[in-house]
Amino acid sequence: MFDFQNEDWHTTDIDVDSLWIINKRDSSGKHSNIYHGNFVPQIPYQMIKRYTKTNDIVLDIFSGSGTTLFECEKLNRNFIGTDINSELVNYVNSKMESTTSIKFYNNYCDNTDTENFKRIVSHNLDQLNSEKVDLLLSHPPYWNIIKFTNDPNDLSNINDMNEFIDRFIVSMSNGLLFLKKGGYFVVVAGDIYRNSEVIPLGFYLMYAIKKQFKCKMKGIIVKNIEGNRGKIGANGIWKYRALKSDYYLFKHEYIFVFKKEW
Ligand SMILES: C[S@@+](CC[C@H](N)C(=O)[O-])C[C@H]1O[C@@H](n2cnc3c(N)ncnc32)[C@H](O)[C@@H]1O
Repeated sequence: MFDFQNEDWHTTDIDVDSLWIINKRDSSGKHSNIYHGNFVPQIPYQMIKRYTKTNDIVLDIFSGSGTTLFECEKLNRNFIGTDINSELVNYVNSKMESTTSIKFYNNYCDNTDTENFKRIVSHNLDQLNSEKVDLLLSHPPYWNIIKFTNDPNDLSNINDMNEFIDRFIVSMSNGLLFLKKGGYFVVVAGDIYRNSEVIPLGFYLMYAIKKQFKCKMKGIIVKNIEGNRGKIGANGIWKYRALKSDYYLFKHEYIFVFKKEW
């Protein structure tokens, strides 16, 4: 939680508003934005800073291109991550080769494979002399809009949406096993267009979590990125297409914050 003793609440950069307009993605340090489907570093930065303290452990079950890990390094938090993309895991680990300031374990692992996930994360926690993590971050694929790998257990390869949601809940259930009671967990999700209509995927995932796990909902943050690369320079054509048809341009995503009650 926010450290009132060591930080001035008047001047902290922690954003307590529920609408975040982010003008530019943070590209400092190790962030290189090579991965289509990554989140802006400002998201893990805010969550880590608000809900953990120095030397705490952050678990990111869809660690991707290492955005959360790099923020953990910046903020001096230890890290455990899993991702099903082995090449990416190796790439991220190679960027961390010379890091000694934090302990981190970024694992090639299918987070829906309960036995293997438990074995790996338990082992990482043993190395950290801990039984639980202090914060869980989860940024799953937005169903199948971006195919991340060819692995059939990759959530982005599931074609039926209800099956996707069920498998996502398995991932969350596995991750939550390791979150301390009273710890916070954060799901970053977006909506999608399919067959000429909006599918409110973010809300479906949020509802599935509330139904499945004993938790309190602490925040629904809407994040809007102004400099969305896919739309830069083509603003005119996108606006034209939206007006010509009957839809709106997606720029936002949701950050759902929950507190685990068990
Ligand atoms: C939206 S991306 C996460 C991006 C990450 N937040 C970042 O900033 O780079 C989703 C990630 O989930 C991974 N993934 C999909 N299914 C998985 C599974 N069953 N177990 C572990 N990782 C999985 C994909 O490889 C992809 O890297």
